[in-house]
Amino acid sequence: MKSVVIEQPGKLTIAERPLPQPAAGEVRVKVTGASICGSDVHIWHGHNPFARYPRVIGHEFFGVIDAVGDGVDAARLGQRVAVDPVISCGSCYPCSVGRPNVCATLQVIGVHRDGGFSDYALAPARNAWPLPDTIPDRLASLIEPFTIAANITAFLQPRPDDIALIYGAGPMGLTAVQVLKGVYGVKSVMVVDRLPERLALAAQSGADQCFDNGEIPLAEQLSGVQPTLIIDAACHPAILTEAAALASPAGRIGLLGFSGEPCTITQQSLTSKELSLFTSRLNSNRFPQVIDWLEQGLLQPEKLVTHAFPLRDVERAMTLFEKDPRTCCKVILQMD
Ligand code: NAI
Ligand code: MN
Repeated sequence: MKSVVIEQPGKLTIAERPLPQPAAGEVRVKVTGASICGSDVHIWHGHNPFARYPRVIGHEFFGVIDAVGDGVDAARLGQRVAVDPVISCGSCYPCSVGRPNVCATLQVIGVHRDGGFSDYALAPARNAWPLPDTIPDRLASLIEPFTIAANITAFLQPRPDDIALIYGAGPMGLTAVQVLKGVYGVKSVMVVDRLPERLALAAQSGADQCFDNGEIPLAEQLSGVQPTLIIDAACHPAILTEAAALASPAGRIGLLGFSGEPCTITQQSLTSKELSLFTSRLNSNRFPQVIDWLEQGLLQPEKLVTHAFPLRDVERAMTLFEKDPRTCCKVILQMD
């Protein structure tokens, strides 16, 4: 089989690898499609502290189960499935409180173990979620990015009367816009980015107001409006300070970033307004929820997709994705 392997930081190859055999409790998925995420690019360039090399990348993928290991119901053969990349132990403290995404021995498919930019991939059977026919192949790999928005909004508990502000109109910001509008019915969703092309995508995904903070600071443009719910999906460390200053008293702020740089913030700016701060990593068993939202027609994943390439063009696809955020949002890889 063909697999996209990052042999070492900076070295991407399409390698011929032996067909993997599922271990007990695992399924093998014949991958149909996958999508590119910023973290795939980070592993390629050696910027992901968790990655070990060589690594088959890809954690947003789906396909058809074509082999099962011991203990897995053979009736699952032939099932169309989307794969949750979060592998957890099930018994540590975070797992025991329903937070397997921060399991003490967390493994992420495509990061800690081989992933889905490949003709075939292995996954624990319980990570392979059956897909209804109503979710077409070309959109099924987008379930995973929507689980990120599902996870952070589960903490933030959006209400229709919230005034929401989302930093960043990349894939993460756009999934958040769609979940706030389509699932929670938030009446006012504002998005800020510095790329007009990205803001246009935010408007298409349902944002009510878009702000370009490339030249004029956001605070000057908000004319005193105080957001009650803020999601940082741009993830520059300076944003938290600004978000706390802009937020309404009793507001909630959700953070998605992984920067190792410090950010400067006073206790007063948080406590005087009694702001709540939530962080969110990956997803805690949110695949069924997102599949259900898609079945109900509450989300429009197609609005994020700008490009599709065959797997053999992965390097071109990843380069375009990395270098050209003005024309690129989600890029899909199609297997033969
Ligand atoms: P992206 O890079 O495509 O989008 C970020 C957007 O933010 C860009 O459009 C950029 O122009 C904009 N931006 C940057 N600085 C800004 C600022 N100061 N003000 C306004 N807009 C600004 O990235 P993507 O894929 O949407 O991911 C966003 C972030 O989410 C990344 O930092 C990534 O590490 C993080 N992430 C976190 C996850 C989690 O589970 N916590 C999962 C996936 C991504
Ligand atoms: Mn991703």
